[in-house]
Amino acid sequence: MTTYPPSDDFVKRAHVQGLEAYRALYEQAKADPEKFWSELAQKELSWFKPFTKGLEWNPPFAKWFTGGKINASYNCLDRHVAAGRSAKTAIVFEGEPGDQRIISYQELHRLVCRFASVIKQLGYKAGDRAIIYMPMIPELPIALLACARLGITHSVVFGGFSAEALKARAQDLDATLVITADGGWRRGKEVALKGAVDESLEECPNVRNVVVYKRTGSDIPMTAGRDLWWHELDQKLNAQEAENCPAEELDPEHPLFVLYTSGTTGKPKGILHTTGGYLLQATMTMKWVFDLSPEDVYWCTADIGWVTGHSYIVYGPLSAGATSVLYEGSPDFPAFDRFWDIIERHKVSIFYTSPTAIRALIRQGDDWPNKHDLSSLRLLGSVGEPINPAAWQWFYKVIGKERCPIVDTWWQTETGAIMISPMPGAVPAKPGSATLPLPGIIVEVVDTKGIEVGNNREGYLIIKQPWPSMVRTVWGDPKRFEEQYWSRVPGSYFTGDAARRDDDGYYWVLGRVDDVMNVSGHRLSTMEIESALVHHPAVAEAAVVGKPHEISGQAVCAFVTLKKGEWDHKALQQELRQFVGHEIGPFARPEEIRFTDALPKTRSGKIIRRLLREIVTSKGAPVGDITTLEDMTVLASLSSQHDDD
Ligand code: PRX
Repeated sequence: MTTYPPSDDFVKRAHVQGLEAYRALYEQAKADPEKFWSELAQKELSWFKPFTKGLEWNPPFAKWFTGGKINASYNCLDRHVAAGRSAKTAIVFEGEPGDQRIISYQELHRLVCRFASVIKQLGYKAGDRAIIYMPMIPELPIALLACARLGITHSVVFGGFSAEALKARAQDLDATLVITADGGWRRGKEVALKGAVDESLEECPNVRNVVVYKRTGSDIPMTAGRDLWWHELDQKLNAQEAENCPAEELDPEHPLFVLYTSGTTGKPKGILHTTGGYLLQATMTMKWVFDLSPEDVYWCTADIGWVTGHSYIVYGPLSAGATSVLYEGSPDFPAFDRFWDIIERHKVSIFYTSPTAIRALIRQGDDWPNKHDLSSLRLLGSVGEPINPAAWQWFYKVIGKERCPIVDTWWQTETGAIMISPMPGAVPAKPGSATLPLPGIIVEVVDTKGIEVGNNREGYLIIKQPWPSMVRTVWGDPKRFEEQYWSRVPGSYFTGDAARRDDDGYYWVLGRVDDVMNVSGHRLSTMEIESALVHHPAVAEAAVVGKPHEISGQAVCAFVTLKKGEWDHKALQQELRQFVGHEIGPFARPEEIRFTDALPKTRSGKIIRRLLREIVTSKGAPVGDITTLEDMTVLASLSSQHDDD
């Protein structure tokens, strides 16, 4: 197979140069991980008080950098200002309507201090929890950093989630503060946010305040005593208060944020990340994977509502002192060259996006990128799902002009930072492989008993040693944390992904082995959508599977049995889609809904999803073992159905 080594020019200026340098670093980390990470933590982060112990490991619970005091907001802002980098641009913001803001580190520091003062005056303090539900505007990272400054644990809820999803998260966290906006812009239309907040808070009595940023200026209801305008609170600050909002000196294990992600049950899990270890790996991977240097203009197109935005728009780039682009809207508005236009105008040198976005843009043809000068680019990145070789080649040739290495980065909400990826100046790429694990990350491919399967065989991907940015627990449910991640292969972290290692030691991540789907790089649980569907009064039973999709990787396909009655199937399909949109969020709506009299089940009554997966994949009868099936006729009727039945 062809490999793609970096050019000599790229290698010459890279942080890690050549495969030997990578291997030496990897071996050094492997020999003594605690020492390796401790030395980096001392060197790369600013501490109020030095830590005394690198790692306390009581499997599966880890504490990193015990005894130290640190603050993430301080590391992202104050230390750069103190080191003479105040004038450097931190954020280049572009709103979808075309409005722009260039924010220096000094200005960002000022804005974060002001907003931290605002929430402090409202009485919020370290240990409290805030829900953040905002569009992709600078006030979103400002809200995160203001919370981090005070030790308030934040939980960002992606703007595409519904009021129901918002409510479940606010309740699970017992949040007392919500930070939101009137709305944001997407594809030329306003995406309203405040309405969903109001609806969700009807059942969240512990939320004392909703702070609302004015973005679109549309008319929204404000509940007296609870809802407050961001700008009005800001205007009330006196200059001295605003400038005097020192970062709290926090324990490195202080909860920085919780992000909810789909698992194998209907209820999303609150993945907890803490301060010191998370920040260290977010910072290190900016150097190792993105090869960041002071003159780079870096752009990650993810949404801050997902972990990629947390680690690679907010904490990683700002802690590493990067200049980072933040774009509010959609890649196809007002035209299909919005990405290429932004890269040209802002001279983006590092561009990190998803295979879904790449595939959607390939479809629009090469004329769109070819109209633009993309010569500022020097490195490309991909995340969220396996990248198919055709998309890789297009990215490499049409966007990178065969000059820019591609980093295919494998990681998860739970891992906090990139785990497997080429170091671009050291590891030659193979299209479709995330290549080699980063220093300090010991991965293996194992069978159901936890035994290594050897090269070129498929198995479960596990991580063998604790790492600083690892998930600490499932919020409020340590038992679930233990069962979900640490019980399949005792002592190792179970990723839920299948993988294969080739003879060069390269890892090929093949997809999920559990009931989790990956739709446009968004993680969705089949059970979560099933439980939404069965809430609908017409639905008796539902089974959901992922169906291969040309653009989004997978699409949601639901098999539904109905309660007795006369149903208009076409109208009901529409209604059920809307219903899932309301229960979870529009992005979770099934692309396809098939009605059936029965679902394939085992004799003990378990739905056999494997068979449904085979039906949607092959468009014919399943080929695998069907001897456990209770009623064979079910299968014949399901396989003969067509998409729009
Ligand atoms: O299946 C893997 C896939 O996305 C899952 C993690 O999803 P989430 O927690 O939402 O985080 C996404 C962004 C880090 C993984 O279990 N995945 C992520 N990156 C890749 C990938 N699959 C293959 N190649 C990747 N580069």
